[in-house]
Amino acid sequence: MKPLIRIGLIGLGQRGMVTLQRYQHIEGARIVALCDLSEQALAQGEKLLGNAGTALYQGESRWRSVCEREDIDLVYICTDWASHTRMAVYAMQQGKDVALEVPAAMSVEECWQLVETAEQTHRRCMMLENCCYDTFHLGIMGMLRKGLFGEVSHCEGAYIHDLRTDRGWVSYTVSDHGGNPYPTHGLGPICQILGINHGDRLVSLTSISGCNHVNNTLIQTERGKSILLQFDERTPRPYNRLQTLCGTTGFAQKYPRPTIQLDGHSPIFDTEAEQFAESHHDEATRRLIEEGKQIGVPNLMNYIMDRRLIDALRADRPLDMTVYDAALWSCITELSARSATQGGKPVDIPDFTRGRWQ
Ligand SMILES: NC(=O)c1ccc[n+]([C@@H]2O[C@H](COP(=O)([O-])OP(=O)(O)OC[C@H]3O[C@@H](n4cnc5c(N)ncnc54)[C@H](O)[C@@H]3O)[C@@H](O)[C@H]2O)c1
Repeated sequence: MKPLIRIGLIGLGQRGMVTLQRYQHIEGARIVALCDLSEQALAQGEKLLGNAGTALYQGESRWRSVCEREDIDLVYICTDWASHTRMAVYAMQQGKDVALEVPAAMSVEECWQLVETAEQTHRRCMMLENCCYDTFHLGIMGMLRKGLFGEVSHCEGAYIHDLRTDRGWVSYTVSDHGGNPYPTHGLGPICQILGINHGDRLVSLTSISGCNHVNNTLIQTERGKSILLQFDERTPRPYNRLQTLCGTTGFAQKYPRPTIQLDGHSPIFDTEAEQFAESHHDEATRRLIEEGKQIGVPNLMNYIMDRRLIDALRADRPLDMTVYDAALWSCITELSARSATQGGKPVDIPDFTRGRWQ
């Protein structure tokens, strides 16, 4: 077991700063270098770390120097979408493992670059899809393993967030992108439910954008399952990631109202549904949630994600999500636009595992 994972953090905007705060509480990890365009952000980051001798890098290309440092194990990327793959590829080429924010890549070509570099360098590359650690989702995974849903035939996921007055981190609307530029929060948890890349694979999609405001993408899997993905940040619709699962003996949905319906039982809603799902957490999840609550972390799913990432790197265990997941979940950005701009024409989805999904 490695005593410490040494981290170079690139990008100290809204997300990077929250990450920095969170890492004060992540056992076995230390941030040794910070990089950003802004001197002010670096000063703020340094202050947060208690001026603990952290190396600071300011400027457009200084992230390369962070990747080249001998004393770093993990490069953690929290910059804007367009720079993720470029930085991750270079970091892996410098022998570093990589954790990168969502989406990992903006095109199919970039997705292949991530996969090929990880294979060539034998480095790990995990996209930080924190919705895979949503406590309701982790409960649903526990119920699934116990067979409570029977065979799952359909799932729905989304990123629906009214960002009309504040674009936040969303770099593209449907109208300037064409399709769904931000698919991974919805798709990641679904791929875990359906065992995608582990016995099934995404085969093709068809996508339609309504008045360039809302994107709807339908995906078919090799084993005949269907997935609906939505993206909407242009209408007043309340925040929603759907998190919907339809099985032969059960149904679950987190948004807009937590609901669980199992054959032979009355439906349950809201807190009762959440508590029921969470009663199916495994022991490790329960321990991390308890830990996070004791520390008072503002967001449990981010805490669980980073604790599991660092624990796995220290123990040299496989990470929860692989470079194949990062590539597959991210490639929907380009493919949904390709389909939607051709009137919903079906588009094939590449098999980044080259057959190993079986
Ligand atoms: N998983 C989540 O829940 C979640 C939430 C928010 C944001 N995000 C993701 O986090 C990422 C960042 O989002 P944000 O809201 O923090 O954006 P932001 O614009 O606030 O921050 C980006 C930061 O990257 C820095 N940067 C850009 N180019 C750089 C370069 N060449 N070298 C060094 N630094 C550079 C900028 O100076 C800025 O501080 C995005 O990919 C976003 O999708 C994820």
